[in-house]
Amino acid sequence: MSQLSRRLILSGAAAAGVVGAAQAQENRNPGPPPPMPSFAGQTILVAGATGRTGKFVVSMLLANGAKVRAFSRNIDQAKKDVPKAEWIKADVKEVASLKGIAKGCDRVVFAIGSNSFRDPSNKPDLVDSAGVIALAQEAKAAKAKQYVLISSVGVTDPANQTATGFAAVLRYKLEGEKGLAASGVPHTIIRPVGMWDRPGGEFNVALLTNDANIGAMVSREDVAAVVLQSLASEKVLGKTFTCFNLPGFDVHAWKRDFPKIVSL
Ligand SMILES: NC(=O)c1ccc[n+]([C@@H]2O[C@H](COP(=O)([O-])OP(=O)(O)OC[C@H]3O[C@@H](n4cnc5c(N)ncnc54)[C@H](OP(=O)(O)O)[C@@H]3O)[C@@H](O)[C@H]2O)c1
Repeated sequence: MSQLSRRLILSGAAAAGVVGAAQAQENRNPGPPPPMPSFAGQTILVAGATGRTGKFVVSMLLANGAKVRAFSRNIDQAKKDVPKAEWIKADVKEVASLKGIAKGCDRVVFAIGSNSFRDPSNKPDLVDSAGVIALAQEAKAAKAKQYVLISSVGVTDPANQTATGFAAVLRYKLEGEKGLAASGVPHTIIRPVGMWDRPGGEFNVALLTNDANIGAMVSREDVAAVVLQSLASEKVLGKTFTCFNLPGFDVHAWKRDFPKIVSL
């Protein structure tokens, strides 16, 4: 593991010190990116598959050999755009629509965001908490080997535990995390910082084992790449980590170091 990544995993303070080191090495040749993991022979269920992060998860999985079962509430356009995936119309608020949805799936990814500021009926308690847990029951019934949950940085901040309305989303995401853990399904929880739509691979990715609520951003495409690395590593079972973009001369360093970083 590089010195850079080892320090990143330890604390946000260490990460701040590392930025300078990365910049000082900007002229070094980073080498080619490591190959993406293969998912040949696996079927993976992606919830929120039409979303800005979920669509990258779907395309990366398909490109790396997985069969993908994909769902969200509105799938008509996605069926035309991504015919290689099996599309199912389902709403995590309606448990009946999830019945049997994970049958035959090896792993499950939850990339749904409630966005209740747009649709007040898509309440965070029903989506980010109850919805995560309802899908965990389906994953359990299907004997899925892993459930990767995209949660959020800041969920453990006490200030978020009493929030209401849209602002309660982080409180309910923490409830969802706890419910997933209690379900007994092998799981991995990723807590991205604020997400932006810059292309993935522009920056390195830092992975922190704590809920470091720092002023950083992360590309949705990079978060999808973190999901894929997580789906391919036994070492991330039971782990929770924050991820964010970090300038660096070797933007693929985190992929090479991933199994070592997440097992710390
Ligand atoms: N935005 C940020 O800065 C930020 C930061 C940290 C973490 N996150 C989290 O990262 C995850 C991905 O975010 P994103 O911005 O990529 O999401 P997004 O683009 O808003 O996509 C949300 C996806 O969830 C689906 N969805 C919403 N409600 C649903 C329901 N009730 N049942 C089934 N599917 C539903 C949507 O499709 P339909 O509408 O068709 O159902 C869509 O596919 C979310 O959990 C989000 O909270 C976001």
